[in-house]
Amino acid sequence: MGNSVRMTLWGYLLVGVGILFMGFLVCLTLYFPQKEKTFPNSLPFAVRQLTYSKGNERSLSKSSQNVFENRLQVDTPKVTTERPLSPWEEFHKDLTLDELYSERAPYMSRLLHSLATAPISRVHVFSPGTQFKFLIKFENGNFAIAKPMRLKRDAYWGYNKTHLSWKDPERHTAEIAAFHLDRILGFRRVAPCVGRKVDLLNEFLLKSQDDGLLDTLEWRGDDICFVGDCPAVFCNKDRIICAENGTLEISVCQKLRWKNGRSPFHEEANPWDHYVVHNGLKFMSILCRKYLSLQMPKISHGRFFLDVMEMTMFDYLIRNYDRHHYSLMRAINYTLSFVVLVDNGKGFGNPFEDDRKCMAAIYQCCRFRKSTFERMLDLTKEGNKLGDLMRKSLLEDPVAPILTEEFFPALDRRLAHFIQEIHKCIDIHGQDTVLVDKYVKVVES
Ligand SMILES: *[C@@H]1O[C@H](CO)[C@@H](O)[C@H](O)[C@H]1NC(C)=O
Ligand SMILES: *[C@@H]1O[C@H](CO)[C@@H](O)[C@H](O)[C@H]1NC(C)=O
Ligand SMILES: *[C@@H]1O[C@H](CO)[C@@H](O)[C@H](O)[C@H]1NC(C)=O
Repeated sequence: MGNSVRMTLWGYLLVGVGILFMGFLVCLTLYFPQKEKTFPNSLPFAVRQLTYSKGNERSLSKSSQNVFENRLQVDTPKVTTERPLSPWEEFHKDLTLDELYSERAPYMSRLLHSLATAPISRVHVFSPGTQFKFLIKFENGNFAIAKPMRLKRDAYWGYNKTHLSWKDPERHTAEIAAFHLDRILGFRRVAPCVGRKVDLLNEFLLKSQDDGLLDTLEWRGDDICFVGDCPAVFCNKDRIICAENGTLEISVCQKLRWKNGRSPFHEEANPWDHYVVHNGLKFMSILCRKYLSLQMPKISHGRFFLDVMEMTMFDYLIRNYDRHHYSLMRAINYTLSFVVLVDNGKGFGNPFEDDRKCMAAIYQCCRFRKSTFERMLDLTKEGNKLGDLMRKSLLEDPVAPILTEEFFPALDRRLAHFIQEIHKCIDIHGQDTVLVDKYVKVVES
């Protein structure tokens, strides 16, 4: 009897010790994060928030006083300086609640020319996002974000089992093409962007003190290459970036300046994030019904919701799966701001296939800005076709051709798809509900 009691006590003790030990193990794993960051297959944006380089814009701009910063904050018209404004200063003055720059933008060609030719004073690794890019400071005080050429113009992405959509390398040409497309569509929500060929050694490496760049250099034959500092899935020796005959081709996109080098954007998660759509979670029209039934003034009034619909159309045209967030201009007032189209490097990957899923928000919500729809109809007319306007506009870039010929009919085809979707919506809901100017009709939940 006494023996079996003792045995039971021993049993309890062993179980107790076991539980304690397992608890200890759990605490240990929680306390020490995994050393190797594994890139999750399903939700690749999970790592987007991480910063992979010590350097950031704030450290870069600390020493140099930026005149403009003060101007944006207090907006004093009395700053009538003796010297004429640089094009990038004119651009910043042109920013309004409705658009990044005005339709006329008399300084635009000078700004693009300046981005493409102005002497570079410093180069830094630019940390936000998953793929490697640069922050450039020019001798004239301007800043730009640059992406290096990774692929030839005719290297297309399959968006299939071997070419997963989130592994798509960014295209510097997509940033340039997005600027032209956005301007032709009349949105003016993409920052000016231009192509440039730089002397990798003299204009970049000798102007940089950033380990994220300099510690990853390698020679391939006579050419200097770099791996860059970013998540291993994007920065690795298979994706090494090389100069050709000493020259590296890049896109140079105007950086919007704000107080103390802080981001001028306020970001919110895009409910139609296509990575999520791909996982089958957001196909249902129920998503839009939910949004339209929230009775939120943000959706039923003002420009926000209609801007998101236009962003969706834009992403269908360029086939962009990467719009995980949309951005609003914190630099002015983000409750009133237009939706800025930031980061378009994953567009223009494949002109051969279209993906209706990218238009999910359009066919789920069936609401669109009337004036924009009318402009889109204009862009289908002979002599004014979107594809032709794009071809012509892109020829002006210093590193043209930017896109292969196949993309121009693709744009016309996708625009026609979009127009068909809207017509289907009108058949179901009626024109007054679908094509609206200001107020979006919400639905009863
Ligand atoms: C995926 O697409 C690429 C590019 O079009 C192609 O080379 C590859 O064979 C495709 N893979 C599969 C599994 O279909
Ligand atoms: C690099 O130089 C070689 C030899 O002079 C030339 O054949 C090639 O076209 C050049 N490449 C570029 C991109 O200029
Ligand atoms: C933005 O504008 C709204 C509406 O006029 C106003 O209520 C809000 O206070 C403004 N926010 C900022 C940060 O100025």
